[in-house]
Amino acid sequence: MHSASLWSFFYPFFQVLKNNRKVYMTSNLKLKQWVDEMAAICQPDSIEWCDGSKAEYDRLQKLVIDLKLATKLNETKLPGCIAFNSDPSDVARVENRTYIASKTKDAAGPTNNWIDPEGLKATMKGLYTGCMKGRTMYIIPFSMGPIGSPIAKIGIEITDSPYVVLNMIIMTRVGTKVLDVLGSDGEFIKCMHSVGKPLAAGETDNGKWPCAPLDKKYISHFPEERMIWSYGSGYGGNALLGKKCLALRIASAIAHDEGWLAEHMLILGITNPKGVKKYVAAAFPSACGKTNLAMLIPTVPGWKVETIGDDIAWMKFGEDGRLHAINPEAGFFGVAPGTSMSSNPSAMKTINRNTIYTNVAITEDKDVWWEGIGYDAPGKLIDWNDHEWIQDKGNKEQKPAANPNARFTAPASQCPVIAPEWEDPAGVPISAILFGGRRPGTVPLVHQSINWEHGVFMGSIVGSEITAAALDLKAGTVRRDPFAMLPFCGYHMGDYFQHWLNIGKKTDADKLPKVFFVNWFRKAPDGKWLWPGYGENSRVLKWIFERTEGTGAAEDSAIGYIPAQGAIDISGLDVPANDMEELLKVDKSEWLDEVVKIKEYYATFGDRLPAGLSNQLKALEERLSKA
Ligand code: GTP
Ligand code: SPV
Ligand code: MN
Repeated sequence: MHSASLWSFFYPFFQVLKNNRKVYMTSNLKLKQWVDEMAAICQPDSIEWCDGSKAEYDRLQKLVIDLKLATKLNETKLPGCIAFNSDPSDVARVENRTYIASKTKDAAGPTNNWIDPEGLKATMKGLYTGCMKGRTMYIIPFSMGPIGSPIAKIGIEITDSPYVVLNMIIMTRVGTKVLDVLGSDGEFIKCMHSVGKPLAAGETDNGKWPCAPLDKKYISHFPEERMIWSYGSGYGGNALLGKKCLALRIASAIAHDEGWLAEHMLILGITNPKGVKKYVAAAFPSACGKTNLAMLIPTVPGWKVETIGDDIAWMKFGEDGRLHAINPEAGFFGVAPGTSMSSNPSAMKTINRNTIYTNVAITEDKDVWWEGIGYDAPGKLIDWNDHEWIQDKGNKEQKPAANPNARFTAPASQCPVIAPEWEDPAGVPISAILFGGRRPGTVPLVHQSINWEHGVFMGSIVGSEITAAALDLKAGTVRRDPFAMLPFCGYHMGDYFQHWLNIGKKTDADKLPKVFFVNWFRKAPDGKWLWPGYGENSRVLKWIFERTEGTGAAEDSAIGYIPAQGAIDISGLDVPANDMEELLKVDKSEWLDEVVKIKEYYATFGDRLPAGLSNQLKALEERLSKA
């Protein structure tokens, strides 16, 4: 018997003996074989099949606390909460170590890092060999989308990180029910992960977050095989493979083949004072306000917003010919800094229990703190680097106590404004799609596309100042991030654009969502935000709602419909009239400059740029020159 089949024979018995718990074996031969194969390569000390139970969660939580990998937080203030500090080299997604290993370079397109899949597999097999020595290999069966729903996709993540297991239990639907649905011959997406830090005999992590150096990290996708191999990082989207890797990069490739959409979008429900409810999806790049918009508390009286999802939307046509969206996730992996009782009270009320914090600062009484939490740091903190930290407001150079990409992981069900229908497998019908990003100039507070094709053009030209959500990019400079999918599209971006155009031809024009572009981040010359944002964004949502009803006054402009004067309800809002004018301004010379930049960007797609989009660009230029 060679070692792989030895594993296959013994591991169920190991389970019973070691943990004295029920064993959840699978009758799925493909799954068994794959686990055997990876176990033989990675050589873990033991294997555990995760059942997603509360007992399992509690046991792993205790384990990471005992191992000093996590801190137990104040049980009175933050019941069930723990905090991790990562390695300073492992604090965000690593875009230049993220690969789309399609069979050809062309299939990955000019916006993705491509490596030959066979060469990459050889390299990574080398890295995986023995990589789990001294560790437990966890097998996580999970469902993206409600378990058993026809729209859901099953993944199996193999990982050596208890941090990943704990986060996946919150972020996805983990459990034996998934194996039941999978049955003996069901399909699943293989998600392989290791932190890339084997332990020698007797060695422990000694309380240090395990990961591999940057040049050994690989976040690899094999779109044709629907497979993910991740190595060397324990953080967020690099390691919680259901999220960006499966639900966006792999799912976007599946959606392209099957005629639906997998998007980096929040989903919200909005109800007007008459009780009419509509649904909005919005694509903003990482750390550009999706979680905040999804949970917004309207400042406009009588309006209500409820959350369906804060990061990912899968949209398919329903029998009614409209696009219906589901949130494939079950939790929020949200940006902590800037989250406060005034900016996002619903998030604050979601994360006060059963939450995992990563890279925040911790107070002496084991509470959490971060920049923008809404109050000064109480006394001496331990910062995200494990150093003592005392706030010095006079020192502009002081390093932040929380990492700018510090995150919370919390169950969506805890959100006080979660929509009752958030898990409906039929999804919610989308009336409006919003695109946006951080643009200090040029782009007005809101404008609406002329039609679907123009809306796709708007999505394709999304640009944003880079944020801390990616490790290897310089924060602050504007880059194009089409559809907020630049780091998440699993195939050629030109084909993705064409796919969006095709979607518009699959139903009647009046059944398609209306498309809008928003920008909460326009700045005055002195660098201050012109728009208060957060809850006040409900004023813009109100206009968008009205536009989908055919009311809501608008004017034509060269870039699309903009709100007519007075059409945005600013009653009770303290924004000076000339700021409002600046916010809604369409500056011809700025936009002609933008056209030049879009042309340059479009050129990178060569003949894979759909004609529909080059026509839209030409038409925009013509309208601008007439304006
Ligand atoms: P990912 O989880 O990375 O995909 O990010 P996200 O798009 O969900 O962004 P999130 O809502 O977490 O916001 C990121 C940062 O933007 C936070 O620091 C927020 O405080 C800030 N932000 C969100 N909405 C607004 C707004 O309307 N105005 C301003 N000025 N800042 C905002
Ligand atoms: C993002 O970067 O868009 C995130 C965080 O939502 S991560 O899951 O790390 O990708
Ligand atoms: Mn995101």
